Amino acid sequence: MQKTLIILKPDCVQRRLAGEIIARFEAKGLRIAALKLIQVDRALGEKHYAEHAGKPFFEGLIDFITGGPVVVGVLEGNEAISVVRSMLGATNGVAAAPGTIRGDFSISKQNNLVHGSDSPESATREIALWFKPGEVVDYTVAGAQWVF
Ligand code: TYD
Ligand code: MG
Repeated sequence: MQKTLIILKPDCVQRRLAGEIIARFEAKGLRIAALKLIQVDRALGEKHYAEHAGKPFFEGLIDFITGGPVVVGVLEGNEAISVVRSMLGATNGVAAAPGTIRGDFSISKQNNLVHGSDSPESATREIALWFKPGEVVDYTVAGAQWVF
């Protein structure tokens, strides 16, 4: 089983879509291993998006991610990283396919509702950045044999 980090970004929380989007991940068969609502400060936002430092959209992106609380979580499941990325759809909500989260709910490149880790290396780095070890919980979900 693989773990991945998700962030329901400030637009998602403000638009009251957090529950609907978590429900999609649960219905897919992903297990919630960690979940919390927090206000992100600039230092954490800059660390999370370090790969984009210096790009033209970087300062605006940090303004956005620190502009209101986020819900950050860890999801676990078979191939969770690529499963979540395909559920998110393309980065730009304008281009994202209908049926994906961004395709169904976003019409913006920046305000695209949800982050998902893009590789095993990113997932490991991001989970350690956002959660203390004890905040990620291993437990058995009832009926897991019917999902996997
Ligand atoms: P990126 O890692 O390319 O996208 P993804 O979230 O799909 O992995 O970019 C990180 C975030 O930066 C993206 O979700 C939205 C924002 N962004 C912009 O605001 N403008 C841009 O031109 C790009 C490429 C991204
Ligand atoms: Mg990315």
